[in-house]
Amino acid sequence: SAAEKGGYDYFMMKEIMEQPKALKATISPRLDNGQIVLDQLKYTDEDIKNINRIHIVACGSAWHAGIVGKYVIEDLARIPVEVDLASEFRYRNPILNKNDVCIIISQSGETADTLAALREAKRQGIRILSIVNVVGSSIARDSDDVLYTWAGPEIAVATTKGYSTQVALMYLIALKFGQVRGCVSAEEAAKLVAELESVPEKIEQLFALDGKMKELAEGHANAKDVFIIGRGIDYAVALECSLKLKEISYIHSEAYAAGELKHGTISLIEEGTLVVAIATQDTLYEKLVSNVKEVKARGANVLAIAKEGNTEIAEVADEVIYIPAIDDRFTASLDVIPMQLFAYYVAVARGCDVDKPRNLAKSVTVE
Ligand code: G6P
Repeated sequence: SAAEKGGYDYFMMKEIMEQPKALKATISPRLDNGQIVLDQLKYTDEDIKNINRIHIVACGSAWHAGIVGKYVIEDLARIPVEVDLASEFRYRNPILNKNDVCIIISQSGETADTLAALREAKRQGIRILSIVNVVGSSIARDSDDVLYTWAGPEIAVATTKGYSTQVALMYLIALKFGQVRGCVSAEEAAKLVAELESVPEKIEQLFALDGKMKELAEGHANAKDVFIIGRGIDYAVALECSLKLKEISYIHSEAYAAGELKHGTISLIEEGTLVVAIATQDTLYEKLVSNVKEVKARGANVLAIAKEGNTEIAEVADEVIYIPAIDDRFTASLDVIPMQLFAYYVAVARGCDVDKPRNLAKSVTVE
């Protein structure tokens, strides 16, 4: 009913709008005077220092959250991270060593491949830390440690707040491990924690783009192919934005690391092809501006996402969406918001059943 949907047409929109609240619920209880406290984690500082390698294993959007995790954990905690699709990990004879940790990410806690991967890692004696939204789910029960994403129930098949809260936990883990391992100073950690805490409010600000994203979505509702490009964490986000679009609107879309364009995708750019360029890494901004020029020269229609103040891209892109300024590492939490809205409105414009896309299930409990 409309009441269940909080007055919105679809659960997906209700859940998009619930993200600031879900993030506060996930982040706040883990902060104490600017310090990160992961109480539920039964790791001593010694355990954290001894971690040799992290294997992040998940499916779908949870796998995308894991890719953000790789970037930030390697960057802040200097621990090598591998990210695997559960359906690959379980059958590929992975190399797991004694001091490795397996991080399993799953909103439902019931995805069959993810659960099987967990059991394989466990059989090999690796400590399992899971990031789960559903309390008491199979994955939560089978793990050594669980950090819950407090997103609340998610009904729409395409995840929004589930993904965002998983990403938030990746940040908390990276910061905590980085600090314990002496890679992040107390001062730097305090600064980064403050940035992380600013995310919910910045998402609220991004909701002001609702009308703009609807208008853009209606203009691109008949697109045949969409390419979403980015570098670094922006590439990890591009993967999620692309999945959102194809899941609910049935438009073919591909995420590409912008530097790889010239090794393939650029051949698919035709007059009018929509390219979404995520350019929110300060250190990679100039590179993205060049990539936008490359696709523009082949006729692409470019929608860019940039940080407020970085206006150079407006000279080359057709449209620019600005996100509030934030440390490069946390852009993943902001970039995804306008693209969730975009995917939603494209799906609505095409008359799709947003909450129940064809052929997909919320939780895939069979292989
Ligand atoms: C399904 C859902 C996706 C989700 C994936 C993993 O395919 O439609 O939205 O990302 O499963 O689900 P999990 O519950 O393990 O996070």
